[in-house]
Amino acid sequence: MQDILVVADLSKTYATGFSALKNIHLAIRKGEIFALLGPNGAGKTTLISIICGIVNPSAGTVRVDGHDIIRDYRAARSLIGLVPQELTTDAFETVWGTVSFSRGLFGRAPNPGHLERVLKALSLWDKKDNKIITLSGGMKRRLMIAKALSHEPQILFLDEPTAGVDVVLRHDMWELVRSLRDTGVTIILTTHYIDEAEEMADRIGVIHKGEIILVDEKSELMRKLGRKQLVLQLQQPLRQLPAALSAYALELSANGCELTYTYDTQSERIGITALLDDLGDTGILFKDLHTTESSLEDIFVSLVRDDR
Ligand SMILES: Nc1ncnc2c1ncn2[C@@H]1O[C@H](COP(=O)(O)OP(=O)(O)OP(=O)(O)O)[C@@H](O)[C@H]1O
Ligand SMILES: [Mg+2]
Repeated sequence: MQDILVVADLSKTYATGFSALKNIHLAIRKGEIFALLGPNGAGKTTLISIICGIVNPSAGTVRVDGHDIIRDYRAARSLIGLVPQELTTDAFETVWGTVSFSRGLFGRAPNPGHLERVLKALSLWDKKDNKIITLSGGMKRRLMIAKALSHEPQILFLDEPTAGVDVVLRHDMWELVRSLRDTGVTIILTTHYIDEAEEMADRIGVIHKGEIILVDEKSELMRKLGRKQLVLQLQQPLRQLPAALSAYALELSANGCELTYTYDTQSERIGITALLDDLGDTGILFKDLHTTESSLEDIFVSLVRDDR
């Protein structure tokens, strides 16, 4: 698939001397939903701000559909819509005024039909003449999305789109993001809600302390790094694990009633069958069993866990 955004060798050192991004390489494919995950302060907003021309890079290049973000600023910027992490709107402007003005900023000819479609898609049409100050928090956030879509961008950045948004509205937003992708818009989002990435993303990038530590298809990531556990409830408590079972990664609960077998998802079958056979041979009987699977959240936490 064609890359619509290519970040190469990108670094950022802020005036304070703080190195927020280190040698970032990232290629985003046209039409994908890419989730950028990372703990607070990892550099997500810095990266997005550089791509959108709000923060200057210290080194490296960014190309948006072939346009260099510095040499060819206007062309690059016109392809991008940004919904920033912090809400910034003029309280006394109307909804319609805001989206029309925003489109004009990009030098696009007026297109009331497009703006109407965007406002309707975001359930803001009936508020079009309202002043922003009269909108609820969730409506303001949706207005930020409408603003970002006003100039018909090819790439939409959503920096924490659902922070402070209620559960129902979050699901509506997920729907909206998917429908935007279906119209061909490439979407890059940051989120602290891992279920959001798990639900929506085609690919996931993890950034940690200014470095991209992993980029992969979501499904691959969960397959490769996902772990499963088989938990067996024993009929009789065990005092210790028989030596015959020492080859397995087994854990016996403190009360001796539960055996937990942890295995990676790739070699699941072989391990389980052999384990159950060996358990039978040693005469250990169980009365119940269940399996659990790690979520993207478990994977993420294990990747970025450190001495912070
Ligand atoms: N203008 C600035 N001057 C100096 N340091 C900055 C500036 N802006 C950001 N930083 C630092 O750069 C690092 C990355 O910040 P950034 O906002 O990119 O993180 P983030 O991944 O978006 O975090 P969050 O999840 O909290 O939004 C942080 O340590 C932050 O303190
Ligand atoms: Mg941020």
